[in-house]
Amino acid sequence: MQTFRIIQNGEDYLLPVYNRQKIVLMRGDGTYIYDSERTVYLDFFSGIAVNGLGQACPEVVSAITEMVHKLGHVSNYYYNEPNVRLAKLLCDISFAQKVFFCNSGAEAVEASLKIARKYFHRLGQDRDEIISFHNSFHGRTYGALSVTGQPKYQEGFGPMLPGIKFATYNDINSVTELINDKTAAVLIETIQCEGGIHPADPRFLKELRDITRENGILLILDEVQTGLGRTGKMWAYEHYEIEPDIMTSAKALGAGLPMGAMLVTNQVAQGFKPGDHASTFGGNPIVSAGAIANIETIILKDIIPNAAKQGDYLRQSLEQLVKDFPQLFTEVRGMGLVQGVQMTRDASPLVLKCAREGLLVGSAHETVLRFLPPLIVSSEEIDLAMEKLRKAIAAELHG
Ligand SMILES: Cc1ncc(COP(=O)(O)O)c(C=O)c1O
Repeated sequence: MQTFRIIQNGEDYLLPVYNRQKIVLMRGDGTYIYDSERTVYLDFFSGIAVNGLGQACPEVVSAITEMVHKLGHVSNYYYNEPNVRLAKLLCDISFAQKVFFCNSGAEAVEASLKIARKYFHRLGQDRDEIISFHNSFHGRTYGALSVTGQPKYQEGFGPMLPGIKFATYNDINSVTELINDKTAAVLIETIQCEGGIHPADPRFLKELRDITRENGILLILDEVQTGLGRTGKMWAYEHYEIEPDIMTSAKALGAGLPMGAMLVTNQVAQGFKPGDHASTFGGNPIVSAGAIANIETIILKDIIPNAAKQGDYLRQSLEQLVKDFPQLFTEVRGMGLVQGVQMTRDASPLVLKCAREGLLVGSAHETVLRFLPPLIVSSEEIDLAMEKLRKAIAAELHG
C-alpha cells in the first residue's frame, strides 16, 4: 500500500489517542529503521526504551521463531518450560525470589498495588494506603493512573482509586509527613522518565529504604523503563545500593513482544494465593523464549558495559550541545542510555526536525528532548546522531 494511503487509513480507522508522526516504519536492523519511502533512520528512541538489542536481534528472532513452531499459547493452568526458566533467570539476576508475569508496565504496577494491599490484609493489618510521587508516571489503567502524579493524565477520568497520597520526589520529609499506621507501600520510579528524566537522589533513595523498613512499609520500585541494562546496570536500583520488596518490569523485558513482570521477595509473595490474581497471556511460551534470549544475549555479549560507556559518551556529547546552544538547552539529566536535555521551549518541533534529518528521538514532559538508543549503540552512531541533531537545531533556530 502507498504511504499516503496507509496514513489516511490510520487516521480513518485508529482511535486518535496518539500524536503520530506521518512516517510508516517497515523494517529494522540493529540501530537503523527504514520507512515506506526507503528513508533510513538512526533509532535513538528504541520504541520507548523497548528494543535494548535493537531491531531484529538474531538471537531473539531465532528463539521466538523456534518457539512459534513448537508451542503457542497454553494459559497458566499448566507450566511451560520457557516461562519457568525465565522466572528463575530473573530471580538469579535480581533481588527477587518470585515472579508474576503479565503483558505491560501498567499491569505490572496494578499487580504491585494489589499484592501490597493483600499482603497486609492476610497479616490482619488494616493498611491500604499507597504513597506515590508528584510528577511520576506509572501507566494508564485505573490503578496505575491513580498512582500517577501528573494531573494531566487523570483529568476527566475521575474518580481515582482511594487511598493514594503523593509526596515530593527527592524530598524525604514530604514522605515521612504522609506515613501513618495505614501506609502499606511507597511506590517510586528510580528515574522519573515520563516526568522529564529526573534520577532519584542517592541519599534520598537510601533514606526512603531505611524509613520504609523501619515502619514495616513495602518499597515498590517501578523499573518499567529503567530495567534490563538501560542505565548501565541490569537494574537501576543497583546504582543506589538498595533493594526493593517489589519491582515492576516491562518494556525491554520482552525484546519487542509485550511482557510485563512483577518481581517480589518470598515474604511479599505470601500476599497472593491461587485465585488472587491472574493473566490469560502472562508468561506465554513465545514471549518467554524471546525474553530469555534477550537477557542471555545481554549477559553473554557484555552489552551492559557498552550501555554504561556509550551512556557517558552520549551525555558528554549532549553537554557540549548545551554549551553551544544555551538559547535552546539548559541541562542534561539521566543515567546510562536514558538521557534528557532540558529545553527552553516545547521539544516537539525539534523532535520532528530530527526525524526529517533521519534521527528518531522523543520528548518527555513537553520541554525535554529524550534519548533512548538501543544498548548496542556505538560511539560512531552517537557522533552521527549528533551531526543530524545539529542540522535539526540549525533548522529550529534559523527556520
Ligand atoms: C515507569 C513506568 N511505569 C509504567 C509504565 C506503563 O507501561 P505500559 O505502557 O507498558 O503500560 C511506563 C510507560 O512509559 C513507565 O515509564
